[in-house]
Amino acid sequence: MIEISGLSMAYPGQRGHQPVAALRDVDLRVEDGEFVSIVGPSGCGKSTLLHLVAGFERPIGGSVRVLGQEVTGPGSDRAVVFQQAALYPWQSVRDNIGFGLRIHGMHRAEYDRRVEHYLGIMGLTAFARHAPYHLSGGMRQRVAIARALITEPGIMLMDEPFGALDAQTRNEMQRFLLRLWRTLRPTVLFVTHDVEEAILLSDRVVILTARPGQLALDLKVPFQRPREWDLVLTPEFVEVKRRLLAVLQPQLESAERVEALIAELSPRSGKRRPE
Ligand SMILES: Nc1ncnc2c1ncn2[C@@H]1O[C@H](COP(=O)(O)OP(=O)(O)OP(=O)(O)O)[C@@H](O)[C@H]1O
Ligand SMILES: [Mg+2]
Repeated sequence: MIEISGLSMAYPGQRGHQPVAALRDVDLRVEDGEFVSIVGPSGCGKSTLLHLVAGFERPIGGSVRVLGQEVTGPGSDRAVVFQQAALYPWQSVRDNIGFGLRIHGMHRAEYDRRVEHYLGIMGLTAFARHAPYHLSGGMRQRVAIARALITEPGIMLMDEPFGALDAQTRNEMQRFLLRLWRTLRPTVLFVTHDVEEAILLSDRVVILTARPGQLALDLKVPFQRPREWDLVLTPEFVEVKRRLLAVLQPQLESAERVEALIAELSPRSGKRRPE
């Protein structure tokens, strides 16, 4: 479904800084209907990777292909869910959810049917006429997910969608997402900082190195679905988590060292950059 090959990305440096190399030579294949999580240190290029698949940016090297076609811009086959539900505050829950259908100019009756259907799936029917600021964080994120799913995209790109939620709401949202995924079966690329979340949700977990992000590990999750929530307590789960952390932890430490060095060498620090 998604074929990422030799993908590299850099951003121009700001105010006298060196250009930022965000990704280097990343290869990744994601099959139709697969759920793949991406984990890595802050600033290693996870969001950049999703933005390149979404077509928001163009890479400096390599390519992203979706069903064999090179991605050159955004498309209705790919939907994005961000960490903070990016809703239109002046529109009701109902209008927010239907947004993607309106821009496609869908017939009114079909539009109403689909919006009602998704309001129902998301448990938001009673809140259809509310403004987003009347909702809790978890509900707002459900609206954002509904808005992404309603156009029935083949691919969902989720960038730490539950990162801002409290532990209990996050747990509910994870279960909710898995139920949706089982019925609709989109291909999912899911960015998270949380290794347990990655294992519980995914078919595979991919770890990126510190910036510029390169592939450090691509691990198949060996647990059957549906997964019970006490799976995290089993020795098998702890072993998978240990294998992931063994690769991730040195990357977190290396990212910290690199950021400290960059701060020290910044033009404002007055120190000379080594040749
Ligand atoms: N539009 C941009 N212009 C300049 N630099 C950028 C831009 N977007 C990202 N970067 C830089 O590229 C690097 C990778 O950023 P990215 O947002 O992809 O990291 P991330 O892995 O998603 O981090 P986090 O876990 O903190 O969300 C960072 O150093 C960031 O500062
Ligand atoms: Mg990010």
